[in-house]
Amino acid sequence: MSFNTIERNRQRQNLDQHDSLWLFGYGSLIFKADFPYIERRPATIDGWVRRFWQGSHDHRGTPDAPGRVATLIRAPGETCLGMAYHVSPKVFDHLDVREKNGYLRFTTPMTFMDGDHADGLVYIATEDNAAFLGPAPESEIAGQIAHSHGPSGPNREYLLRLADALRELDVHDPHVFTIERHLKDILMQPGVH
Ligand code: SIN
Repeated sequence: MSFNTIERNRQRQNLDQHDSLWLFGYGSLIFKADFPYIERRPATIDGWVRRFWQGSHDHRGTPDAPGRVATLIRAPGETCLGMAYHVSPKVFDHLDVREKNGYLRFTTPMTFMDGDHADGLVYIATEDNAAFLGPAPESEIAGQIAHSHGPSGPNREYLLRLADALRELDVHDPHVFTIERHLKDILMQPGVH
């Protein structure tokens, strides 16, 4: 699969017939909503966990030195909490560009905090995309994040802002918080900027 998923997403799902849709965000879409939305509500999806296993060549790293950003990995029995946004289909023109480095849109059932259900679209970077990096110890992931920078800013900002946003949502995500702990240790070391 090529790095750029814009055309694949447009071909896979034509959204023109919808007046509005739900989007489920679990990574930067939680803390950086750079698009208009009608409303937003915390929601969960079942059978997935958040992992910093996707390479970022265009936002938080470069092709020569990719950063690490979040994707979802199948995990039966687990639940992932994120933020659901009720949006116009036009928003996906922007999001397809923002998420073009390997993310495909899928449809997922979501559960809101009051128990209501809806289907939402979610961007997932699957293992077969060219930018996928896969698992590594959290300490190594933190090291890579500490030293990666891209056009959207330092990779550390993505991790630290996501961790803060998850705390605000009362989510305990051991993977994210372990990386955060290692990252803060690295950033305290002399000479690390
Ligand atoms: C998401 O946040 O839902 C997708 C991954 C990202 O843009 O960080």
